[in-house]
Amino acid sequence: MTGEGRLAGKTAIVTGAARGMGEASARIFAREGARVVLVDKRDDLGSEVAASISAAVPGSARYVSADVTDPAAWQAIVDATVDAFGPPGVLLNNAGIIRVQPLLETTLDTFHKVIDTNLTSCFLGMQAVVPLMAVNGTGSVINVASPQGYEGRGNFGAYTASKFGVRGLTRTAAIEFGPLGVRVNCVVPGPIRTAMTDRAGWSEAEYARAYGGYPLGRRGEPDEVAAVNLFLASDESSFCTGADFIADGGVLAGKPRE
Ligand code: NAI
Repeated sequence: MTGEGRLAGKTAIVTGAARGMGEASARIFAREGARVVLVDKRDDLGSEVAASISAAVPGSARYVSADVTDPAAWQAIVDATVDAFGPPGVLLNNAGIIRVQPLLETTLDTFHKVIDTNLTSCFLGMQAVVPLMAVNGTGSVINVASPQGYEGRGNFGAYTASKFGVRGLTRTAAIEFGPLGVRVNCVVPGPIRTAMTDRAGWSEAEYARAYGGYPLGRRGEPDEVAAVNLFLASDESSFCTGADFIADGGVLAGKPRE
């Protein structure tokens, strides 16, 4: 069942796997020999993606419906993973949401929802999964940050706070979990062509205008981030921990061309 591949023999949990970068990562993980548990709240999409992965690589994927902000759900995710495939060696904390609003118009509920989904989920996921990785003395956690984890952006207050938090949490986790054999890194994607960055009614020309001044001048594709996640999930990144891996088309390099 595990066959060959860069993740042969590994069990991976991928959150937010029903679409976007989570889906792309789950697909490539399975192609590279991992058994993958896909976690999401979008049950129709999530089960379809898991079924299509299993059709391509028999027995390689399971879908688990769960809200990653719920501590009890994490116990269920871990139990389902161990039942199906054994202890996880990879955790990709990818589920996330964005709300674009001025700070003074952001309600406390909205602020909490963004922080819980993007940041608290990483904390809960590591608390649930790392003890199992530690039993085997090996594991890789990938927490998804953003260029908004490096710099502020108008109307992105809650999102920016959550992604700065992800980078800080990742560093502390790397320090604490290194002696357990567990590596913890951030992937920093963006802007990527997913439902999250689709603007209703925008044409490709409008996207080109919005991103044209950055070094690579376009949105990236989910597979271009999944490739970085694959590296981090695999033993090829065995000496990497507590670090950020940027796949942003150069957005963080500096100000865009005029
Ligand atoms: P997406 O919106 O296509 O996918 C996110 C998935 O997370 C969805 O399937 C959604 O149902 C799931 N999800 C949301 N809340 C959840 C919850 N509470 N429990 C379980 N599942 C939940 O988004 P995309 O673009 O693939 O984003 C993935 C990650 O990458 C997010 O953390 C996002 O903040 C981050 N990111 C995205 C960028 C982009 O340009 N698309 C840029 C930088 C970071």
